[in-house]
Amino acid sequence: MTTYDIALIGFGGVNRTLAELIAKRGEALHSELGFGLRVVAITDLRLGSLVQPEGIDLSIALNLGAGSEAFAANGGSADTNNEAVIRNCSADIICEATFTNPQDGEPAVSHVRWALESGKSVCTTNKGPVALRGAGLTSLAEQNGVHFEFEGAVMSGTPVIRLAKRMFAGLELNGFEGILNGTSNYVLGRMEDGLDFETAIREAQERGYAEANPAADIEGYDVQLKVLILANELLDAGIELKDIQRQGISTVTPENIQKAAREGRRWKLVGAARRNLDGTVTAGVSPVALPLDHGLAGVSGATNAVSFETDLLGAVTVSGPGAGRVETAYALLSDIIAIHAARTEVSANA
Ligand code: HSE
Repeated sequence: MTTYDIALIGFGGVNRTLAELIAKRGEALHSELGFGLRVVAITDLRLGSLVQPEGIDLSIALNLGAGSEAFAANGGSADTNNEAVIRNCSADIICEATFTNPQDGEPAVSHVRWALESGKSVCTTNKGPVALRGAGLTSLAEQNGVHFEFEGAVMSGTPVIRLAKRMFAGLELNGFEGILNGTSNYVLGRMEDGLDFETAIREAQERGYAEANPAADIEGYDVQLKVLILANELLDAGIELKDIQRQGISTVTPENIQKAAREGRRWKLVGAARRNLDGTVTAGVSPVALPLDHGLAGVSGATNAVSFETDLLGAVTVSGPGAGRVETAYALLSDIIAIHAARTEVSANA
């Protein structure tokens, strides 16, 4: 039976949870999915790097302290050495789960490029490389005969990107609108409950929904990246970040929220894209006071939803978790499963 060697780049909440899933459910997954998973390398800015081609004992790695010497004291190195580890380790698949940099996508863009150039497939939950360099990295993967998967970049493990690409075949997709940020949706809901803005954000951080810098959630940058990913991947829009107008929820006051409630409306941060008659795509992010009978008005907490506008089916809406460690770690697992399925198909047709 096939075993995939995995390298985890970034050992924060998401990859750590993936390691826990592999440690706890590896055998069940093995019999259910027909392949095994073995972690052979882990790197993290704070912990250093650990490379063991024979397989890392995850029960040890998961219990190491948080200090910069954590890996060094256990046969690894205090340096991260990302380029050397990614290029030279024995992994078949790199799971990239470092922080999203909305400016230029680095260092994650380089992590992905080094992996693809050295013949390794990549799964990432990182929005930066997908939104800012998606097309180039996808063609680099094709040139190298490997895969670049990124289901977790939008709506965590809730299947959206692969679902739309595979299951909407034969339909014309004319646009989408969605609630694509769990933190801002959670914050708006808690403000409706009467909480102040700062306390609501703190709660979202404690629950693991918020980005390292929660301004990315609150000011709409996170949704802007996700709209860019969906527009380019699903509508073939060929647009850039600067083409997407952005406004966050920091301008929505408790008074606005109370007034909307009195009028039978609810504030939501909506990300949308629409194909125009001339084929171009217009996209944007803004807070909107939706009427309660709108399909997105009832989506609460950190839940996300996206409604696709299709020609033959009308609106098709997918709803599910949009953030969270376990939910996002599952996205990586679903990417690995997709890579296995693609490889199995290729070898069956060879
Ligand atoms: N901070 C993001 C959110 C996490 O709140 O939706 C997923 O991208």
